[in-house]
Amino acid sequence: MTKNSKSTENNNNKIIEKIRIFDTTLRDGEQTPGVSVNAEQKLKIALKLDEIGVDAIEAGFPVVSEGEAAAIKTIVAQGLKSEICGLARTVQSDIDAALKCDLKYIHTFIATSDIHMKYKLNMTQEQVIDRAIWAVDYAKKHGVQVEFSAEDATRSDRNFLIKVFKEAQSAGADRIDIPDTVGYATPDYITNLVKEIAFNISVPISMHCHDDFGHAVANSIAGINAGASCAHVTINGIGERAGNASLEEFVMALHCLYNKKTNIVTEKLYETSKFVSNAMGIIVQPNKAIIGENAFGHESGIHTHGIINNPLTYEPISPELVGRKRWLQAGKHAGAHGIKAMLGDFGIKPSEEELKEIVTTQKNLADVGKSITTAELLSISGHIMGNTKFEEKFKLQDFHIVTGQNITPTAVIRLHTGGKDYITSEVGVGPVDSALKAIQKIAVEVANIKIREYRLDSITGGSDALAEVSVKVEDKSGNVVSARKSGADVVVASVQAMMDAINKIMLRKILQSDNNNH
Ligand code: KIV
Ligand code: ZN
Repeated sequence: MTKNSKSTENNNNKIIEKIRIFDTTLRDGEQTPGVSVNAEQKLKIALKLDEIGVDAIEAGFPVVSEGEAAAIKTIVAQGLKSEICGLARTVQSDIDAALKCDLKYIHTFIATSDIHMKYKLNMTQEQVIDRAIWAVDYAKKHGVQVEFSAEDATRSDRNFLIKVFKEAQSAGADRIDIPDTVGYATPDYITNLVKEIAFNISVPISMHCHDDFGHAVANSIAGINAGASCAHVTINGIGERAGNASLEEFVMALHCLYNKKTNIVTEKLYETSKFVSNAMGIIVQPNKAIIGENAFGHESGIHTHGIINNPLTYEPISPELVGRKRWLQAGKHAGAHGIKAMLGDFGIKPSEEELKEIVTTQKNLADVGKSITTAELLSISGHIMGNTKFEEKFKLQDFHIVTGQNITPTAVIRLHTGGKDYITSEVGVGPVDSALKAIQKIAVEVANIKIREYRLDSITGGSDALAEVSVKVEDKSGNVVSARKSGADVVVASVQAMMDAINKIMLRKILQSDNNNH
């Protein structure tokens, strides 16, 4: 190792109080195949990122288009708390485009691996160094903060990489960044690499890790533990190919497992994830850590039993810490404790015998492949307990929908409630819209219940993709209830989720009025 003669203190000696979060959702995240967000959405996402407390927002790559540059300029003009940064290659046109956006912070990069220099840049090591020095110097002469990245750093010759970073530092770079561009590194490799870079460099070091082998978060953390003070991350881990290190996983691991702090308001993680997922049209897989739908859901009897006694048994993070709620699910793995707790949520207290029968009945249904909604569980319980109060208040009798080209999608719905049938029809922008509007028409008329939110996710790919629908409904007294349903037919799943939500809110109302009367 050669110690940087210029610096008195290298990164190995520094005590880092808070880990800096550099969010690149709007740059690397937008490079996710098939994703493009307009200026209005970019601004909305930037405002959310500022609200959640990221230290820096990489708002985009100014030179790529006029629209991109205009969107970045608008974000800069907001005067947000987060620093706003723009990406530029080490060429004048890119840096000028960034300066024209009024950016005060430029992230400039050039590749340093043999494979990139030979097959992409067609440049020698000397030419790469000259270009890096020129770009940092040029940007610094314009009075901006400069972060310098050596693209494909983890596949670069180690001595050459350190030389490039030292030269960038001498040219005035305020920060250097170590990209694991193709997600090739392992945590051990990163530890060793970052320790050596930290020994030679005194300006702060960032990590920029991709997830091609699923190591992005682990590599970012290894970098932090070896002397880096910042990580480039994205909401939901979106980004080129397999994506970047996910902000929510990185931050929660730092806070909970490594006792390190960030400025992130963790309670806003879930809503930010949902917001970005909707704005960018990228679905979050259900089993994704922290923000996946199932991350705080429990079905197995053993687990729900533990959770009920003490949530720490099966929840390493309490859901509220990341803005979420735990939920229990009926099903074949569910046990008496879980079902009892689910019913208890509605104030329903079956006897031991009744509970046994309820559990067996719902397990039998699950065994034949039926996924049981909460309203169905309540209805089963009502039937077994001889209490019609718990029965589904709205029963779907039948529905049909006409849709196609040059035809207005129209749904006809027949529901049974309060001892009589209601038939109604509605038109909509599509089959789901017309069906939900028709159900809502009856729900509003009978009980003043309206849809508040509808969300559709595709769980699998292909034309036979499994869809997951979630519907939130509200009533006049401010009760809000949500229900989820998955199935291959989007319309049927949507109708079932809507019916479940309406029945759940009806039951809530009944139990509330019972409590008020006692
Ligand atoms: O992955 C990468 O190398 C990048 C650079 C532009 C930093 O995104
Ligand atoms: Zn990247």
